[in-house]
Amino acid sequence: MAHHLPEPFRIKMVEPIKLLNRDAREAAIKRANYNLFNLRAEEIFIDLLSDSGTNAMSQKQWASMFEGDETYAGSRSYFRLAEVIKDIFGFSYFLPTHQGRAAENILFTCLVQAGQYVPSNNHFDTTFGNICARGGHPVNLVIDEAHNPTLNHPFKGNMDIQKLYDFITKVGVDQIPLGMITVTNNAGGGQPVSMENLRSVSKMYREFGIPFFIDACRYAENAYFIKLREPGYADKSPLEISREMFALADGITMSAKKDGIVNIGGFMAMNDETLYEQARNELILREGFPTYGGLAGRDLDAMAVGLREGLQEEYLRYRLGQTAYLADRLREVGIPIIEPPGAHALYVNAGSLLPHISKEQFPGHALTVELYLEGGIRTAELGSLAFSYPDPETGKMVHPKLELVRLALPRRVYTQSHLDYIAEIFSKTVARRSEISGYLLTYSAKLLRYFTAQLEPIK
Ligand code: F0G
Repeated sequence: MAHHLPEPFRIKMVEPIKLLNRDAREAAIKRANYNLFNLRAEEIFIDLLSDSGTNAMSQKQWASMFEGDETYAGSRSYFRLAEVIKDIFGFSYFLPTHQGRAAENILFTCLVQAGQYVPSNNHFDTTFGNICARGGHPVNLVIDEAHNPTLNHPFKGNMDIQKLYDFITKVGVDQIPLGMITVTNNAGGGQPVSMENLRSVSKMYREFGIPFFIDACRYAENAYFIKLREPGYADKSPLEISREMFALADGITMSAKKDGIVNIGGFMAMNDETLYEQARNELILREGFPTYGGLAGRDLDAMAVGLREGLQEEYLRYRLGQTAYLADRLREVGIPIIEPPGAHALYVNAGSLLPHISKEQFPGHALTVELYLEGGIRTAELGSLAFSYPDPETGKMVHPKLELVRLALPRRVYTQSHLDYIAEIFSKTVARRSEISGYLLTYSAKLLRYFTAQLEPIK
């Protein structure tokens, strides 16, 4: 049976893309110091680096931007967005920010003291980095099943409730200014969190008096997974499921560049008035006046419309169907992926494809370079280049369990024939995998090093 109906939209504006020849791709990656972040857009044929801000907006979103109100304080756009956010998320207060990490920075500036801990299922690297930047300690407590890449579990993003309890009682509530969970769990394979798990996490945080914040970027995709997989939700709409999720929390940080289907934008929302006032002051200092928060009025309007579109069932069916389709094509050509596939991305197990490359020589990174050389496809390494860090006591590098390569799918951008092409390039690349060599790091920053790293192939 076909996984999905055809794309529920037709194309009315086109953006040309072009595949450079092999020599030009070789020159480009060399010039980029073998870091795909240093490539230029025109050097890339299919860009799967991120699903963030890379979305195609609808005619309705573009139309709404013409009505964007650029009034400095009290713009109509702000109130239109406020109404949508109140309706979907339900919190008492919200503040727009230019993107998700700006909301994270403000939230942690208000709440986290040096030496304190913030548990989650898995922190995404910006929440991880922003907690570290306050001197805090991000802690990942996802269920053990998440570490088994081939295990099929409907909600592999779930928090391990026992681990959470043990952790809270070990370090003490005083040391935990807030608790989080990421939906879907991007750093853990884009896996969803069940409503049942959200309920247990919420109950535990609340019993201990710990404010509970959801990192909500891909909440609509998470809601649709709940609808498909969790007993009792088949007849509920993604909107109803979302409201139920957010009623369990005290607030959220949100990058609307994901399920808000915009190119820029984010916000934070909360129920606590004191926190809101504190965050508002930080916002004015860093982002802008609270009715625009680092965005143009037209961006607020695009977000208001995009948040609604992101919850439409036909859209979500297409969205999850597209990822499932690519997963099938990749399995057919023998590519090991994290099972089951998520919604916004597929995660290829590069460690098992390239066992001859050690973690110190970045097998995931090697695969990303080869996919670019083979077919002009840009993907993202999520392995030892992105996540290894020196142990503070011994100085020895601590490596992540899995060496992954992420294929993120921008929303409403690529068609099914693009997906077929991706599978074909994978097939050609792995056919010569024994010839693929590792990489040596020649430049590395302290935090989030993969963005600016420079590398050299090991001959
Ligand atoms: N939280 C999660 C789970 C994310 O995936 C991201 C961004 C953020 C927070 C930060 O949001 O980019 O608007 O500041 N993820 C992008 C990605 C960058 O490619 O996965 P932002």
